[in-house]
Amino acid sequence: MTTSYYVNPAARTRRTEPLRDTPANFHRSLPGYAPTPLTELPTLADELGVGSVLVKDESARLGLPAFKILGASYAISRTLSARLGEHTALPLDVLRGRIDPAEGLRLVAATDGNHGRAVAHIARLLGIPATIHVPTVISAAAKAAIRAEGADLIELDLPYDDVVTRAEHFSGGTNLLIQDTSRDPVAPVPQWIVDGYSTLVAEVDDQLAARGIDRLDLVVVPTGVGSLAQAVVHHYRSTERAPAILLVEPDVAASVTTALAAGRIVPVTTGETVMNGLNCGTVSATAWPVLRDGADASIAVTDAQALAAVADLADLGVDSGPCGAATLAALRVIAGSAYQLPPPGLTAQSVVVLLSTESRAANPAGQQ
Ligand SMILES: Cc1ncc(COP(=O)(O)O)c(C=O)c1O
Repeated sequence: MTTSYYVNPAARTRRTEPLRDTPANFHRSLPGYAPTPLTELPTLADELGVGSVLVKDESARLGLPAFKILGASYAISRTLSARLGEHTALPLDVLRGRIDPAEGLRLVAATDGNHGRAVAHIARLLGIPATIHVPTVISAAAKAAIRAEGADLIELDLPYDDVVTRAEHFSGGTNLLIQDTSRDPVAPVPQWIVDGYSTLVAEVDDQLAARGIDRLDLVVVPTGVGSLAQAVVHHYRSTERAPAILLVEPDVAASVTTALAAGRIVPVTTGETVMNGLNCGTVSATAWPVLRDGADASIAVTDAQALAAVADLADLGVDSGPCGAATLAALRVIAGSAYQLPPPGLTAQSVVVLLSTESRAANPAGQQ
């Protein structure tokens, strides 16, 4: 059962300026970079009565089981490059050679799993320490994965928003905060993280073109603080394509849907969900104006809906954790109910892309 839905018929007419920088060039310099698959699933297209459903499969991205390293790697490079007086993202091997160990740099982040692991991973590649703050409720596997990257882990029996505040207090001086959310709408680091995510949508465009698919009607985006959604909305409002963009979040953490309906950021009290990466109570201030103006619709789904989608995608050969599979859950609600997208809505010709942002291993449901 869904608990909330929001729709903005004016969103598709919004236009944004294309990014000036090209994070994809930086990502291509990372060891092991390759575009993640865009997999067409005709069974789902038949079920939902649309032209095609394609899944952007982020289950293996640069050696990690989620998309988040795209943002973390780019923001870390921009942060360290800026300290060296450079206004671009230097490749990691160049940075490694220019970091002075005597400076005592440390990377700091708060996370509900994937972002912190990505920050810890890049810190390890750079040979600098990291301190990652987590809510105690995230899975034991997620904590172990962060520790395995060599990071110090600080567990806090607090909701995610308060964990973010604690990480902010821990940072300063040579403790560099690499956070994917912000209360400050013009903070550079969260914006660099968002810019880093643009590589994912740029790959989708290239992959659709390579398949000869020249239309894109709907992109479904799993949403926590809204930074990934910000990247997707920004991208598609700055190109000729004008797909509808549907955001999906857990019913127990419907902060984006609530904010969009209220017309302002409204912190919500969150509960427990298997969609750990989406369990956020406050929309990022960096993302807010972009989502307010350019997101077509937002919907909340239950754990049961997300877990059914995890199982169905697994049957179709796609390894998708609950956050990623929430996109299929949302599409099913939209395609089969009174919740409508703005005109022209979904048709038998529609091309739909689901952003499956993690593998099952990244977020083992129910494992604490
Ligand atoms: C797997 C996964 N998908 C989606 C998201 C949502 O990203 P954002 O918090 O930028 O909205 C997250 C965030 O942690 C995540 O881990």
